[in-house]
Amino acid sequence: MLNVGVIGVGSISRHHIEQYLHHKNVHLHAFCDHNIERLQEKGELYNIEQLYGEYHDLLKNKNLDAVSICTWNNSHAEIAIAALEAGKHVLVEKPLSMTVEEALAVKEAVHKTGKVLQVGFVRRHSESTKILKEFIDNGDLGDIYYAKASYLRRLGNPGGWFSDKKKSGGGPLIDLGVHVIDICWYLMGKPKPVSVSGNTYHRLGNRSNIENLSFYKAADYNPELNDVEDLANAIIRFENGASIMVDVSFTLHAKENEVNVKIYGEKAGAEVEPELLITSEKHNTILNVSPQIDNRSLHFKKAFKEEIDHFVTCCLDGKENIASVDDGVQIMKILNAVYQSAKNGKEVYL
Ligand SMILES: NC(=O)c1ccc[n+]([C@@H]2O[C@H](COP(=O)([O-])OP(=O)(O)OC[C@H]3O[C@@H](n4cnc5c(N)ncnc54)[C@H](O)[C@@H]3O)[C@@H](O)[C@H]2O)c1
Repeated sequence: MLNVGVIGVGSISRHHIEQYLHHKNVHLHAFCDHNIERLQEKGELYNIEQLYGEYHDLLKNKNLDAVSICTWNNSHAEIAIAALEAGKHVLVEKPLSMTVEEALAVKEAVHKTGKVLQVGFVRRHSESTKILKEFIDNGDLGDIYYAKASYLRRLGNPGGWFSDKKKSGGGPLIDLGVHVIDICWYLMGKPKPVSVSGNTYHRLGNRSNIENLSFYKAADYNPELNDVEDLANAIIRFENGASIMVDVSFTLHAKENEVNVKIYGEKAGAEVEPELLITSEKHNTILNVSPQIDNRSLHFKKAFKEEIDHFVTCCLDGKENIASVDDGVQIMKILNAVYQSAKNGKEVYL
């Protein structure tokens, strides 16, 4: 059995908690949150008795083998390092940290302690990703040289900590871009990034004046605080000549929301989101092939189940972790370079 605690019991923690509760090899028995009201409410809801207002106190619990860190981005690195040093395995929500320096400190702690650290790159665990990866690993796409991703919300600044740079590290780039850049990079075979050119815009604000459309809001919603970008775009170049083009927004004068992830190889291309589709050519004819599976779209709940199952197996059986700290560091380097490039108005070399 793996004895688990969850640190930060706000919105996303539900996906961790419910999967741990259903896992036959897990005993979930501790929660931590510095919002005591929320901590008690979640403790009651899930029947968890060991409740801590401070993560240091939870980490002193000798019965815990592993923790999920579902706090704001500003505490990911600090809590991950403390947890590793306390001898716990760690599943940390994306992004690994707010800065490259923090990410490297987490990497050092992983190497020092030998504990498992998995980054919450949930898209890597979706059924459609796994199927496409099988095609890629068998050479069906050939050399992948281009990827294009858009994660555009026309109205979707969650407010609260998401739009407070001190707690988030940035806006849609670090919140949404992290997911789509990671999935492209992962499927492309994790080529070495060499340069990044990016732009960020802070033109529209949070647009909380729009009252006739609903959108996702942080647990502690506060539209007043907003010092993050509302749009970011970038081109990322790799040592093997491949490139990724990406744009992400919290708010934009767009007709509708859009999530599109596409990768292109010499033998075939693929739409990863919104629905898995493989495009190739045979006998002088172009084929659009739709894999026949239960869910060609990103099935969030199922992807979280697979993510948690993977973490538990890595902790209990020593299985190789597919979302390691090294990958978390590399993604932080790319994100940081986009912000740096946008700030300086120049391409950044990594
Ligand atoms: N994988 C995904 O698709 C996905 C989706 C949403 C959010 N996230 C990530 O999950 C994390 C949490 O996001 P959320 O939407 O659940 O936020 P949230 O505000 O709803 O929940 C975070 C909780 O952590 C608590 N907290 C913050 N700092 C703490 C600390 N130092 N010690 C103890 N408690 C602390 C807060 O009080 C809050 O209850 C973020 O890093 C976010 O990027 C991931």
